[in-house]
Amino acid sequence: MSKIILTGDRPTGRLHLGHYVGSLRRRVELQDSGEFDKIFIMIADAQALTDNADNPEKVRQNIIEVALDYLSCGLDPEKTNIFIQSQIPQLTELTFYYMNLVTVSRLQRNPTVKAEIQMRNFEASIPVGFFTYPISQAADITAFKATTVPVGEDQEPMLEQAREIVRKFNAVYGETLVEPDILLPDNKACLRLPGTDGKAKMSKSLGNCIYLSDTPEEVREKVMSMYTDPDHIRVNDPGKIEGNCVFTYLDAFSTPEDFAEFLPEYASLDELKEHYRRGGLGDVKVKKFLNNVLNRQLEPIRARRHEYEQDIPAVYRILQKGTAAAYEAAEQTLKEVKAAMRINYFDDAELIRVQSEKYQAGRD
Ligand code: TRP
Repeated sequence: MSKIILTGDRPTGRLHLGHYVGSLRRRVELQDSGEFDKIFIMIADAQALTDNADNPEKVRQNIIEVALDYLSCGLDPEKTNIFIQSQIPQLTELTFYYMNLVTVSRLQRNPTVKAEIQMRNFEASIPVGFFTYPISQAADITAFKATTVPVGEDQEPMLEQAREIVRKFNAVYGETLVEPDILLPDNKACLRLPGTDGKAKMSKSLGNCIYLSDTPEEVREKVMSMYTDPDHIRVNDPGKIEGNCVFTYLDAFSTPEDFAEFLPEYASLDELKEHYRRGGLGDVKVKKFLNNVLNRQLEPIRARRHEYEQDIPAVYRILQKGTAAAYEAAEQTLKEVKAAMRINYFDDAELIRVQSEKYQAGRD
């Protein structure tokens, strides 16, 4: 069986370090591994509209931002199809059929939907489109026969629901769809990168993000004002690593080369942590190191972004080409789905023959 990747992001803002360690960095590695037959990366504008219905302009403006972020991280349009969800009508069609296989109570139990309903104050009146987006996400995945879905931990319930839909579909209509596997980040710090304020998650609405497109100056400012250990007041005080997001970021980003280049007096992150715990290591020194670590990873990303920004029409052409490839793949799956569901009337010569014989027989 071929190995196929599908994943994506809602275009509601520029992408940040949480996206990067949670999924983007991995996607580029997977792309370059050569292990996959096809890779589809989707800009999920239709999904973004499920909770931004009154703000389509925001979604429209952010499509190019997300595309630039993708390309600047190293997604290569020669190897990866980057496409726009709303331009693939087959996805909406699949969603409509999958809706018959999912109950309202199952959607209500989806932990991600639950949390998001609360976050958006949708409790009193939930838009139907928003409520059903896990079903549309199952359509996104299955339309491409994806075997592998690299996403952050928060998407786990979505994948579980998609797998259930696949099993149900195949049980009812015959083996047609492929059950996808989730691929989570392997580094624990990357599962859910906290915001610079130490809050649970980096999120645009909390204003605690470092963006991939931030300038070196912006990154430095954000790092220097990051949340650390509030009880680590004097340099000599012992410090806490747990909940100290400077160290969480170092867990997610720092490499042995970073230590060799920027902080050769420590052999490893463990040694640095040990010194901090003991006392005698100041926050400023650790933050300066983190700033160097981040900028070393962000520098090539910034440079590539700058290049793509010089030719925006070319970026739209990349999206158009990726979208055309995605359309073809989704169309093929939809054909198979409709055949399995017995709603392929005009493609089915057998159906027409049998019906015609039935009436012929009646007449004789
Ligand atoms: N829900 C994802 C997010 O918020 C975006 C998304 C839409 C997605 N469809 C998908 C991710 C299918 C993986 C597979 O970022």
